[in-house]
Amino acid sequence: MSFDATSLIRPDVASMQPYVPILPFEVLSAQLGLPPEQIIKLDANENPYGPSPKVRQALASMSYPHIYPDPESRLLRAALSDYVQLPMEYLLAGHGADELIDLVMRLFLQPGDAIVNCPPTFGIYPFDAAVNGARVCNVPRRADFTLDIEAILRTVGAEPRCKLVFITSPNNPDGGLVSDGDIDCLLRLPVVIVLDEAYVEFAGLEHSRIHMVPHYNNLIVLRSFSKWAGLAGLRLGYGAFPLNLIQHLWKIKQPYNVNVAAQVAGIASLEDREYLLGNVHRLVEERERMASLLRTIPYLQPYPSYANFILCKVLGRDAFEIKQKLAERGILIRYYHTPGLTDHVRFSVGRPEDTECVIQALREL
Ligand SMILES: Cc1ncc(COP(=O)(O)O)c(C=O)c1O
Repeated sequence: MSFDATSLIRPDVASMQPYVPILPFEVLSAQLGLPPEQIIKLDANENPYGPSPKVRQALASMSYPHIYPDPESRLLRAALSDYVQLPMEYLLAGHGADELIDLVMRLFLQPGDAIVNCPPTFGIYPFDAAVNGARVCNVPRRADFTLDIEAILRTVGAEPRCKLVFITSPNNPDGGLVSDGDIDCLLRLPVVIVLDEAYVEFAGLEHSRIHMVPHYNNLIVLRSFSKWAGLAGLRLGYGAFPLNLIQHLWKIKQPYNVNVAAQVAGIASLEDREYLLGNVHRLVEERERMASLLRTIPYLQPYPSYANFILCKVLGRDAFEIKQKLAERGILIRYYHTPGLTDHVRFSVGRPEDTECVIQALREL
């Protein structure tokens, strides 16, 4: 008998709940007995228009897949510098924004340190905090999903080991924006404010705070290519970081964190940004059309959204059953198990024909 090494696992990890990711297309297709092209996937805020055709061409003619990627993603960061209008020394690319969330935590958090999380929001923040042995101070949002700034200030004041505050704008799952006043207030705290702008293209780039990064030593802004650029499967994100912090992130990141295909795809996306932002525009128009149609469903109450999804409160019906019944028809939406959101569902915005199918099914339920 060999030694049972489970006793050596970190006790906090051994007792940790796993993150439950979305099922991949092929698995769903087999589970539902439907071919992938008949599945309407509105559960993970992906972009139904996919990448730019120039990305497909660039990937097909990629010159150096057999050579390790540039650890500093220089060409990509130069293209990003033009996109976000910041010098490239402020920018670092990652294997999705997800990797950068973990990387920031690894830079700051020692076991027992804490983050502020403002649920309902993206579930990765508490997950990564747990992986990093940190505590999570939850400061729930108000009923309209705006931040409870007074409670955040109180929490940070009472928690000397709180180091990071995670803020999302637009927020997932409701799609609301953080106000200028709230950001200004938070930036005065003696902690790092991590502002996640994964969906900001759908709000309009004028809502981004990335230009503020050079003026604050404690503001980090994270972005993603998954949503606006349709590259969720290739995993590409980036962040803008104060210069006093970014030098330390460079030291601890995995050297080859952004693979060759993701770098090539990111550059081609930025070269074809007019096309991609055209798709963003179509999705924003479709979001507004979908919201007005959802308002005609008597048992749904949609919230206003600045992102590519719409959260709805379910009135007088079982939200889980709605999710299940739609899934039987090949329509996948997000249902929440978390406290405060159990009677809510979230629809990602798809193509007009996807909206038609969803609304038709909701009317028939
Ligand atoms: C708020 C938020 N941030 C980040 C991400 C992940 O971004 P990426 O795909 O670049 O890792 C998501 C994905 O759903 C998200 O909702």
